[in-house]
Amino acid sequence: MKGMPVKIGDLTLQRPIFQGGMGIGISLSRLAGAVAAEGGAGTISAAQIGFLEKDFDENPLKANLRAMGRELQKARELAKGGVVGFNIMVAMNHYEEYVREAAELGADFIVSGAGLPVELPALVRTFPIKIAPIVSMEKSARVILQYWSKKFDRIPDFLVIEGPKAGGHLGFTKEQLEHFDPDTYGDEVGRIIRRVREYEERFGQKIAVVLGGGISDREQADGAFRLGTDAIQVASRFVATRECDADEAYKQTYLDAGKEDIVLVKSPVGMPGRAIRNGFLERVQKGERIPPKKCRGCLRRCKPAEIPYCITEALIHAAKGEVEDALLFCGADTWKITELGTVKSVMDELLGPTV
Ligand SMILES: Cc1cc2nc3c(=O)[nH]c(=O)nc-3n(C[C@H](O)[C@H](O)[C@H](O)COP(=O)(O)O)c2cc1C
Repeated sequence: MKGMPVKIGDLTLQRPIFQGGMGIGISLSRLAGAVAAEGGAGTISAAQIGFLEKDFDENPLKANLRAMGRELQKARELAKGGVVGFNIMVAMNHYEEYVREAAELGADFIVSGAGLPVELPALVRTFPIKIAPIVSMEKSARVILQYWSKKFDRIPDFLVIEGPKAGGHLGFTKEQLEHFDPDTYGDEVGRIIRRVREYEERFGQKIAVVLGGGISDREQADGAFRLGTDAIQVASRFVATRECDADEAYKQTYLDAGKEDIVLVKSPVGMPGRAIRNGFLERVQKGERIPPKKCRGCLRRCKPAEIPYCITEALIHAAKGEVEDALLFCGADTWKITELGTVKSVMDELLGPTV
């Protein structure tokens, strides 16, 4: 319920909100620490997190692992004892190393999407870290619950449902994205929750359900709780905050974007995503190829010789505020954001002020 703290095992969120992980360099320690300090769950994105390290081009894995430690420590200093974890995408090369690093660093949780994190329980078996898959359809929820319970005799500590209005890479085909409206997707959320409750009963253990994608005001937040979710996940709305780690020029693109500027794109590895139209996207859509300057081996399925552009380079441009050369990932309702807020003002707006 909206006003109640959420328990995730021995962790307590004073306010039922997760800040969604945003790579590259959009949700780092400042944003995650601020959300955690206000009683939510702050999520650091591990995606190419070491992009500002001196040795990033030569040894991205080493640079990323080092940056994970530094960002978690900085977030903890800001978080006033609040909950901080990592978003680690299954599609990333060296997924296993990043997961182990997060667990060894003592992060509170790992959330994994962009693929189903089938082996995640095995990777963290000896650690108390909480783990959660991200799913978009009931079928994926069923597959992961069944697989984890059969193979590892465990269930997720929480489960994130990412709806069709989310930002970044999306867990839907283009046809599904066109098919769903808030009502039909509400039905799908209901099916996922029923499946989750079945496993909760079987294991006698709570799985908190977190719903995200297009939650940018109080009414949408209330709608998510009415569907029976335990917490909401919000990403785009947090980009337009003072604490967000993104460059100010990137935040400004969110404030300037109109509804018509938000488009679906196909990422270089074929997954659909959502972004703000700009000079970069126009060049790509005209068929121009922007070859990678250097491949840092970020995604498992990427073939550097065939892709229209390098997603790491396009997202690093975004993080640095070079917005005309950047892929500007955003959620579907980003056009509704018209002012820069603070993490606290956004949380109060979505959940009501704390008493
Ligand atoms: C700029 C941006 C970057 C994102 N990067 C990631 C990511 O690296 N990994 C991931 O699992 N989700 C990513 N997402 C998805 C968010 O974590 C979140 O679930 C989703 O955007 C929620 O919808 P909202 O943006 O409408 O609040 C990203 C979203 C945005 C807007």
